[in-house]
Amino acid sequence: MYTHEDLSNLQAQSLKMQTWIRRQTFSPELEKTLRRFSSWEVSELIFKVNQSTFRGRLAADPSLPAGTVEEDGRQRWFTLDEINELRRRIKVNRKSLMPTRPVGKRAVRVAIANFKGGAGKSTVALHLAHASALDGYRVLLVDFDPQATLSHSMGLNDVAEDHTVWGIMARDLVRETDRMNAVSQGAESGTTLPQRRIPASIRDLGLDELRINDFIKPTAWSTIDIVPSCANAAFVEFASAQYRHLNPEWSFFGAVSRYLDALPDDAYDLIIFDCPPAIGYQSMNAVFAADMLYIPSGPGYWEYDSTTSFIGQLAEALGDLSHGFDGTFPAGKITLPKTFCDIRFLLTRYEPGNELHRAMFDAFKKVFGDRVTEHPVEMTRAVEQSGRFLSSVYEIDYREMTRETWRRARATFDRAYDEFKESVINVWDKLEDEK
Ligand SMILES: Nc1ncnc2c1ncn2[C@@H]1O[C@H](COP(=O)(O)OP(=O)(O)OP(=O)(O)O)[C@@H](O)[C@H]1O
Ligand SMILES: [Mg+2]
Repeated sequence: MYTHEDLSNLQAQSLKMQTWIRRQTFSPELEKTLRRFSSWEVSELIFKVNQSTFRGRLAADPSLPAGTVEEDGRQRWFTLDEINELRRRIKVNRKSLMPTRPVGKRAVRVAIANFKGGAGKSTVALHLAHASALDGYRVLLVDFDPQATLSHSMGLNDVAEDHTVWGIMARDLVRETDRMNAVSQGAESGTTLPQRRIPASIRDLGLDELRINDFIKPTAWSTIDIVPSCANAAFVEFASAQYRHLNPEWSFFGAVSRYLDALPDDAYDLIIFDCPPAIGYQSMNAVFAADMLYIPSGPGYWEYDSTTSFIGQLAEALGDLSHGFDGTFPAGKITLPKTFCDIRFLLTRYEPGNELHRAMFDAFKKVFGDRVTEHPVEMTRAVEQSGRFLSSVYEIDYREMTRETWRRARATFDRAYDEFKESVINVWDKLEDEK
């Protein structure tokens, strides 16, 4: 017979192993660090200019960051900050190297969602974030999943649960309840409407005093921040059900959206959400806050099946949201009824040589038309490995594996990123139209 204590002992054993893996992966201080990028990568893969043009620019202006030459080699290696400074200062054929970013608009919010476990959500979120940062964008990641895969991959292992999406939701409950109480008192002078109460056990957590930035953590990537998650936040689904009971008029699904509304519009360019494999309080917050839905799916029949029921259930859940909130939903940057600027399906772990995968890709396109991205993310050994080492292909030094394996892996994510970027720019256009 096994009890919860046996489970707990098994977990303790496993945690020791985790610490060991992290020691092998991160620096001795258990801190994730970001490598430098070679002049070959910076010129051809990041700036997409000829290597000799790039070298010429560096030679012509000694005040530009020059990178570092490693002991054994001739190449110069640049940090992300150096790359970003070069991007700001160098022009090629009088063209800026800065990525498209309309001024005066807020960051585009993208939810990577599917309730199918292992569909590739976290891998896609991680790679799109890293590709965006290398392209010059400033990214905020929000980890909605208490499995915390994305947080761990970004090097965050020591996260307090009140600094997760749960903290944002509980803080919103307190603030929204106070706001509603104030409104009902003010409006009905003479008649005292019953005041909604938040028990001391929640109010005393002091979450409503947390500032926006308390939830945002820096990462080893200087232009990527994260609202992390942690395993202790797993109770959030239970807690949220209780919170709704405390204040049935609380629009629980708008909590994270309201939180993000309070960020300055130009603080980030992209906000990317990694969702848990479920439709629940957290994923509804992610989906509601999103301008664009990105739905990754494996290339098998069951994954197609499951993606189909995911969109069905999501449709139902989104349809239900408006009930009871018509006209009472606090106006923010996202309103009711919920609309998306774009919805895309992205096949992952795709093998072009596999007949079944090709057939499923055709089926996806037949059903979802041009909602399906043209370039699936291919199955790559580099990513299987990088999963173990908690790194994206962008973070892995190409000298650690055969150049061909690394290039193939990088190329498939680059193509997926290029399409993603195109969609993001279209979303920016639509956001402008709305104004
Ligand atoms: N393109 C790929 N090539 C090879 N392996 C991949 C690829 N994409 C994902 N994987 C592997 O598939 C597994 C599941 O991926 P991932 O964790 O991204 O899925 P997920 O949808 O976030 O899962 P969950 O539902 O548990 O959050 C991981 O082991 C990952 O390394
Ligand atoms: Mg995941």
